[in-house]
Amino acid sequence: MNINLHLTKLQKTFFFSFTVLLMTSSTNPSLWGQKAAFLGHSCYWQLSQTCNVPSLQELSVCVDLWRQIVTSWTAFVYKKPGELDIELGLAGKGGNLKAWLFGTEWTVAYDLPLQQWHTVCLTWSNRSRELQLIVNGTVGLRAHVHDSAPSNLAPNGTLTLGVSHSVIGGIMDIETGTNFIGEMTMFRMWRQELSPQQLVDLKCVSGNVVTWSRNDWEYPGCPPVTDNKLKCGETSLNIHA
Ligand SMILES: *[C@@H]1O[C@H](CO)[C@@H](O)[C@H](O)[C@H]1NC(C)=O
Ligand SMILES: *[C@@H]1O[C@H](CO)[C@@H](O)[C@H](O)[C@H]1NC(C)=O
Ligand SMILES: *[C@@H]1O[C@H](CO)[C@@H](O)[C@H](O)[C@H]1NC(C)=O
Repeated sequence: MNINLHLTKLQKTFFFSFTVLLMTSSTNPSLWGQKAAFLGHSCYWQLSQTCNVPSLQELSVCVDLWRQIVTSWTAFVYKKPGELDIELGLAGKGGNLKAWLFGTEWTVAYDLPLQQWHTVCLTWSNRSRELQLIVNGTVGLRAHVHDSAPSNLAPNGTLTLGVSHSVIGGIMDIETGTNFIGEMTMFRMWRQELSPQQLVDLKCVSGNVVTWSRNDWEYPGCPPVTDNKLKCGETSLNIHA
């Protein structure tokens, strides 16, 4: 019920926001039509310090991945300030996908073939108490989150794309050996637990917590690369629900 109400609201604001964005496109810091190319070992992106993830009682997060070669890889890792455990994360090893929430790790046999784009999403809410991993709109993992788990995602954490990390004494330490080799685009986070079908419908809609925009990312030594073949093109659509 709640999810349906959300989508109705999303749909209402959809065309209005589309118009606004077209009007402001000259100053648009959008990264749509661009990708992160993780081809070297010290290459990663990091959530900008000006983008604060709020405390969330529900969420969805998606990223489009293109793996170049067979390796153990990390799509993203979000950590609570001062914690070593992974608050929210996605990685892969062999033919498995790994998802983390509140420090717990789940593994599911799910191969993402090389040199193809895959849209991988995680969703959770305190209401459903379920973590779902969704690939191209198909549920690959549905896991019950333990009743003693927190009722919200910890706010103001650190997020890296393409690598895992720890923050030790305020210094970002990048984990080696599990970095992603390939390309990523359209990392987005929403403050709603969206259904697989909603995620398919929103495949070219901007996030409302983290967006695919220069405002939200820092990319030390690894600038965005334009790719005219990316499915969503250059025009970003927003939702403000
Ligand atoms: C996801 O969809 C893309 C095309 O839209 C396809 O190339 C890819 O193989 C799909 N991935 C999986 C795991 O089915
Ligand atoms: C989270 O869910 C639990 C179990 O349904 C509920 O008791 C609790 O009040 C919820 N927390 C918040 C902050 O809504
Ligand atoms: C998160 O960061 C914002 C902005 O820097 C700050 O206002 C807020 O108090 C922080 N929240 C927590 C829980 O630390």
